[in-house]
Amino acid sequence: MEGRKQPSRMTYGNYLRLEEMLDLQEGPSDYFPKPCNDEKHFIIVHQAFELWFKLVITELKQVHTLMSTEHIDEDSMPKIVHHLKRVSAVFDLMSQQWKVMETLTPQDFLSFRDRLGTSSGFESWQLRQIEIILGLEHQQRDAGMDPLHHMQKLQQEGKISSQVLDEFNTALESPSLNELLKKWLYRTPINGSFVDDNDDQSMVSDYIESHLSAMNKHSESVIAHFESIGHGDASSLRGRLEKSVLSAKEFLCPGGKVNRSRAGLLFIESYRELPLLAWPRVLIDSFVELEEAILLFRNSHARMVERMIGRRMGTGGSSGVDYLDATLKYRIFVDLWTVRTILVRRDLLPDVANSEFYGFNSQR
Ligand code: HEM
Repeated sequence: MEGRKQPSRMTYGNYLRLEEMLDLQEGPSDYFPKPCNDEKHFIIVHQAFELWFKLVITELKQVHTLMSTEHIDEDSMPKIVHHLKRVSAVFDLMSQQWKVMETLTPQDFLSFRDRLGTSSGFESWQLRQIEIILGLEHQQRDAGMDPLHHMQKLQQEGKISSQVLDEFNTALESPSLNELLKKWLYRTPINGSFVDDNDDQSMVSDYIESHLSAMNKHSESVIAHFESIGHGDASSLRGRLEKSVLSAKEFLCPGGKVNRSRAGLLFIESYRELPLLAWPRVLIDSFVELEEAILLFRNSHARMVERMIGRRMGTGGSSGVDYLDATLKYRIFVDLWTVRTILVRRDLLPDVANSEFYGFNSQR
């Protein structure tokens, strides 16, 4: 069949652009001598992580789009959860991947470590982008190290493209997932009351008051139990428990003003069994699971680093393990963690008003 063009055949290598990808493990083009076996291992492990980071960003952007609508569609909930679960699975996997890195001995690492110069995972802009999309705030970071300022410096030196910095700035300017989550929680119907209802403010204030009085009841039962077993001093225990009720009040009404997002969050967490709250609770759990997975990932990196370089300074100029351990204190979804401290035993909780709205009559 002369002159007729054969349809091009898709191949595995062509689909994955495998040759290009597998050509990238030799270090920079002018790198000499070429990486030894251990160094190649070091490069491949890093590249594998960066590929996973890329997937994480793609998934989080999808979640961002789904959560950016004025009202999050009910149909979107399972999709958001699906993407978040994938991200958590990737972080779980990455937590295990440090084991591969640990097959490098500290001494073998030292044989090429100086070649890295000041390059460091600290310059991984994909991890920074993940943090920004999720909502890690600048002031929450370890004060001694400022990765965003460092990125700007690298861009000025021509070490990263302006496209990378633009991506960054776009993420910084968009609401974070934490902000979108709070916006969604703000609209939670509380005791059947909607945010736009005329008497919503008093309904929400009453709800908060009833929860705080349930906390007080809970405290009394804890004190009675401790007294009955002769464990601890009742008056100091009472002081501590009263303090925790006061901090619960400050959490729910900072500066005396009701925070409806937090009240909504508390309502969902307290009445988890209500059918209408099933997806909201799964969504909240997915965010908690994700943040936990990220912390475990950070922790296992820090432990691998401690094993590899002890208490040496990092190539990026940080204190090394001390810096990495400080990042374990980072919490993005602060409210989701705090609410756990103020939950009350189910049998002491006030009954839900207008419970039929949530799917069934919740008399317990
Ligand atoms: C021998 C292996 C490794 C050692 C000794 C090591 C050491 C360090 C140290 C000391 C830091 C703190 C910043 C600095 O001063 O450099 C750091 C940060 C970092 N490393 Fe590693 N690392 C290793 C492997 C990896 C791998 C395989 C990845 C995967 C991408 C990675 C990703 C990161 C990231 C993302 C940060 C920034 C953490 C943050 O600022 O929150 N590291 N690393």
